[in-house]
Amino acid sequence: SDTGPVDIEQLLEVAEHAAKAGAAVVSERVDKPRNIEFKGATDLVTDTDKASEDAVLSVLRAAFPDHALLGEEGGISGDTGSEFLWCIDPLDGTTNFAHGYPSFAVSVAVLQKGDPVAGAVVEFAGGPGSWVTKTYTAAKGKGAFLNGKPISVSSCKDVNLSLLVTGFGYEHDEAWATNLELFKEFTDESRGVRRLGAAAVDLCHVALGVVDGYWEFRLKPWDMAAGVLIAREAGAKITTMDGQPFTVFSRSVLAANDGIHPAILEKTQVKTEGLMGRGIDMSAWFLPE
Ligand code: IPD
Ligand code: CA
Ligand code: CA
Ligand code: CA
Repeated sequence: SDTGPVDIEQLLEVAEHAAKAGAAVVSERVDKPRNIEFKGATDLVTDTDKASEDAVLSVLRAAFPDHALLGEEGGISGDTGSEFLWCIDPLDGTTNFAHGYPSFAVSVAVLQKGDPVAGAVVEFAGGPGSWVTKTYTAAKGKGAFLNGKPISVSSCKDVNLSLLVTGFGYEHDEAWATNLELFKEFTDESRGVRRLGAAAVDLCHVALGVVDGYWEFRLKPWDMAAGVLIAREAGAKITTMDGQPFTVFSRSVLAANDGIHPAILEKTQVKTEGLMGRGIDMSAWFLPE
């Protein structure tokens, strides 16, 4: 459908408003007992994930009734022929949330013809009884912000001096095993590799310059869409782990400042040989023609 000229500022405003609506639901429940269900052996979902998604979706539907929406818990809805597709992770880092372990986040971004153009991530840091929320935002070509202040990636160019972060998904496949090898190699070579458990937050931490690089296999569009835009707008180079151009439908991500990206890629690309083509191509599900 023809949506007329894009007002990127308006998209950003709605993304932020929607992410904050989800975060308000999370805030209200964060120190209360959780209602946990299982999607897989260790893949949790709580009633808060679903309630947050409902809150995000109602803001987006009211603002843009003719856009397509993709939420982790509810799947695709709205006009799937729209050039705008919203990617919603109502609670990224559900396992952390379920245990009261910081951090976790609400992540909302809009893609225009597959490309992220505006996004917001509300991170919950702190801990039980003293949670603090931090709002990261970015719009394409307009920079990245934390609580309204500009942020940028680190300038560390040397892996030996770097602090890195990665993640391990719920599916313990070949890519997961390969990432354990990478974890070992980079732990040996860098100052350390963190494993936080919330991909959207990991990407925002690259944007903020508190980690120098991040990579992970097998993420989904809602894990990456907002965080990738925020990191890119903060100056990060974003590719797949084998150095290909990144899309939110890619099967891996590597985000790092320009100076250190090549040195990280050198290792990840060797390890990913033959792994990248496998798995489902999610673009077939919902990319508009
Ligand atoms: C997960 C987190 C985690 C990553 C997993 C994701 P969820 O998202 O981002 O860091 O390693 O692959 O599925 O399920 O907590 O929203
Ligand atoms: Ca999940
Ligand atoms: Ca997620
Ligand atoms: Ca989630």
